[in-house]
Amino acid sequence: MIDTEATQIIILGGTGDLSRRKLLPALLDLHVKGMLPVTCNIIGLARSQWSREEYAEYVKTAIETNHSSHAHTQAQVDAFCNTLNYVCGSFDDVDSYLRLGKAIDVFDTKEKTRSNRLFYLAVPPKYYEQIFSDLQRSGVTNEEPKTWTHILVEKPFGSNLKTAQKLDRQLAELFREDQIFRIDHYLAKEAVQNILSFRFANTLMRAPWDKNSIASVHVKMLETIDVGSRASFYNEIGALRDVGQNHLLQLMALIAMKEPASFKPEDIRRARANALKAIKPIDIKNIQNVVMRAQYEEYRENESIPNDSQTETYFELHTEFDTPEWAGVPFYVQSGKAVASSEVSITIKLKDVATGLFDTKSCLSVGNEIKLTISPEQTMEISLNAKSPGLGYQLETRKLSFTCAKNETELDNSYEKVLYDSIIGDQTLFTQTEEVLSAWKFITPILEHWHTIALYSYKKGSQGPTETILKHGN
Ligand code: BG6
Repeated sequence: MIDTEATQIIILGGTGDLSRRKLLPALLDLHVKGMLPVTCNIIGLARSQWSREEYAEYVKTAIETNHSSHAHTQAQVDAFCNTLNYVCGSFDDVDSYLRLGKAIDVFDTKEKTRSNRLFYLAVPPKYYEQIFSDLQRSGVTNEEPKTWTHILVEKPFGSNLKTAQKLDRQLAELFREDQIFRIDHYLAKEAVQNILSFRFANTLMRAPWDKNSIASVHVKMLETIDVGSRASFYNEIGALRDVGQNHLLQLMALIAMKEPASFKPEDIRRARANALKAIKPIDIKNIQNVVMRAQYEEYRENESIPNDSQTETYFELHTEFDTPEWAGVPFYVQSGKAVASSEVSITIKLKDVATGLFDTKSCLSVGNEIKLTISPEQTMEISLNAKSPGLGYQLETRKLSFTCAKNETELDNSYEKVLYDSIIGDQTLFTQTEEVLSAWKFITPILEHWHTIALYSYKKGSQGPTETILKHGN
């Protein structure tokens, strides 16, 4: 159990897609592993007029359907679900917060304690502004001496630079920075955390890590799943806001950032922020050559999607970092839903050897490459040129690789990590204001000019659109 005082975890949006698929299964895992505080109360808040028992039933079904592991016994699942509480309410109704306050007090009275509080906003970002002020106004977020309140917000934080700045100002007026946990669950993935050690704990990797040795970087996030039950939420944001502004720019930043001064959260977050700030803005005059977008053909068949929707479910972009170390190294970012196969990865192509024995292609050099795969497996792989066995001297590719974690059901489940770190108050893997705003600064001009570039289409389950801005081999 975590050595912390009584804690209540309040999930706003307790029946939403995120809660169902990620949060509740992660909370079950933490519960079973004994990694929740000893005295802990989980409250779901959602619109359905349900009793506590009905919510528990709902969660049980959600876990059976969405938990990728069957490692838990029915008794463990029942025990977890029986501890859950539920408050019926909506985010735009002040009375809901009063009912929530009562439910929180009932637990404190029963336990004869004054609990810490963790509010998880598992709701579309358009509700954030209202929720922040209603939470604060209702008094449920007040801290008493020796207790804490943490506010967890999901990405995308805002919908462009202006709205993100406004939300940020509002949050800063209501809460301290150490209370605000801006989630990017990709930062909590084992393979992503491993980038630090891969780059900075290995002499072999430290030396060549810049434009002198790296030819290009390709950050890819392809998913077979379509927008499914998230359709109306997704249609308002599109792929670039959903995963580009956050997960994928963060992966780029981790590849290009300078070595943090220490493991202190502020040093790591600053290093990421500085890298994000250095992403070169897209040249708008050249936008059609450096950005492309597409929508899968069947997207508008979903009843929640208007039949003239221009929302992208796929995009590619090409940029670089405006720093002496990285100038001229192309970074390609690509993401799409409903394609033939899922893969989240970063491929770092190293330059061909330019001098010495292997300076020509006479030996059929195949080139070096480093591939960090985040999904479906979390692996690190280095392709090396090696002598092909036999007479003569030909080169062939040999791979060195290792797996960072077996799969998402092991300790590496990123939502477990997000929840655990927010309880113990470690903000290392949460984004700070500067990171979020720098990412929006890069993304907003593209969003403002989306209408000037074509929206291509591709068939669901295909390899994606045939049009591409990715250079051959990336
Ligand atoms: C979420 C996006 O942040 O990440 C989803 O909103 C995407 O569209 C998901 O499917 C992917 O996360 P993971 O952990 O399943 O790779």
